[in-house]
Amino acid sequence: MSHIDASETQGSRGAFSSRRVFIFAAIGSAVGLGNIWRFPYVAYDNGGGAFMIPYLVALLTAGIPFLFLDYAMGHRTRGSAPLAFARMRKWTEGLGWWQVAICFVIACYYAAILAWSLRYMIFSVTEAWGDDPNTFFFGDFLKAGDPGVSLDPVWGVLLPMALVWIALIAVLALGVQKGIGATAAFFIPLLVVAFVLLVVQALFLDGASDGLDALFTPDWGALAEPGVWAAAYGQIFFSLSIGFGIMITYSSYVGRGTDMPGSGLVVGFANSSFELLAGIGVFAALGFMAQAAGTEVTEVASSGIGLAFVAFPTIISEAPLGGLLGVLFFGSLVIAGFTSLVSIVEVVISAVRDKFALSRITATLAVSVPIAVVSLVLFGTASGIHVLDIVDNFINNFGILVVAVVSMVVVGWVLRALPLLSGDLNQHTSVHVGLWWTLLIGLVAPVALTAVLIRSMIDTIQTPYGGDGYYPAWMLDVFGWGVAAGVILIGFLAALVPWRPGTSLALPPLESAPTPGGGGAHAAEEVE
Ligand code: ALA
Repeated sequence: MSHIDASETQGSRGAFSSRRVFIFAAIGSAVGLGNIWRFPYVAYDNGGGAFMIPYLVALLTAGIPFLFLDYAMGHRTRGSAPLAFARMRKWTEGLGWWQVAICFVIACYYAAILAWSLRYMIFSVTEAWGDDPNTFFFGDFLKAGDPGVSLDPVWGVLLPMALVWIALIAVLALGVQKGIGATAAFFIPLLVVAFVLLVVQALFLDGASDGLDALFTPDWGALAEPGVWAAAYGQIFFSLSIGFGIMITYSSYVGRGTDMPGSGLVVGFANSSFELLAGIGVFAALGFMAQAAGTEVTEVASSGIGLAFVAFPTIISEAPLGGLLGVLFFGSLVIAGFTSLVSIVEVVISAVRDKFALSRITATLAVSVPIAVVSLVLFGTASGIHVLDIVDNFINNFGILVVAVVSMVVVGWVLRALPLLSGDLNQHTSVHVGLWWTLLIGLVAPVALTAVLIRSMIDTIQTPYGGDGYYPAWMLDVFGWGVAAGVILIGFLAALVPWRPGTSLALPPLESAPTPGGGGAHAAEEVE
């Protein structure tokens, strides 16, 4: 027990020891798989250099304002996502559980991609994929057949996944400061060093400038396509870790006197810088790959999973010091992904702790073991990649973005709580959160996101995900629409479960200590 955060042994929720540690943890959460393998391809596929415009617009009109909203809710209410909503108004609690359920789903497949990255870090040393990384990845490694469901275990994936889960449980059991905070404070600087080395190595490869040209040459026509804007908003929410409870949870562990908006700007800037750096590194490497193959960069740029696990191995095999490039690339994916996965699972742990008054260790095991089991069964098997592809697409588009719109409408329009929340943000701030924020969260962001969602919904109905007939309709119904609807149902059912006796659902008084227990009789303060 001596290694457990002292503040958590006394039944309290735990806290980050300083603003610096909180910022590390928040960057650790934001910078993840979304930055390294998702962003470069999304940017390239949606107008290249011109994508920076919708990306920046999405960041400034929705990303940063929503980050502030999440921060304010966690910081003001001192609660996990469900407790934060319940303390705003009891009937909104289900929105918090909806976010918790989304985290449950994301954690299941995120751990699988981490496990693949771990294996590939080792494969890089011997270039185990041989001459054909594509057949190796889908056939030899994942043993994926045609789309469908098979529960045949794939031991080469299951074992590293089990390792990821054991490491994750160990970190989370150590608590907020000694587990989450210390892990991020150690790994984030390491990640920056590894990634900068990777980018420098990639920039020195022959053909690197062709890759950068492909990424940054703007296709202005793309700005007229609604799909490009949809991609930008989707990327920002997943990448900044907003809209699915993470930042509410983390900011509930931050002391009262902290400059939250200033911290948010640091986190947002760090996340976008990392994303840009990833784009530069990945496309420089693709430029090299295209030149080596005597073809165009457009021919070699491929989608997320393919980019990391098919294109990169090809590059590693051909580049000078390729093994080093591989260890840096897959090592960065492992580190970035691990600190993000920690935050995703912590959302569930924190919610369960608040609801049932469990100790840190009991809650960690009660939450992580079931997620790990579902994760191993669904994604450590031969159908893993197909299920993963579908779940990832639907939970991002029709999970995170939908709950984000609903939260903004409920908090802004129904509860009219934006003045209360901006008041909390402005208590200690280097950036005044004023009318501009109320307009963005109350109007601009919900309208923009609703337009994006309607557009994605129409697209997905007209052309089933994966292209006509690629996935059997029942798979899309179960793992796509079914999961997106299931998280809403589970969210609202969980809200019916009573809170442990003595939990106060009133807003804690402003002068309360940084690490309140979450229970006890707090002076009530109305949301109005
Ligand atoms: N924000 C995390 C990522 O980008 C979840 O992967």
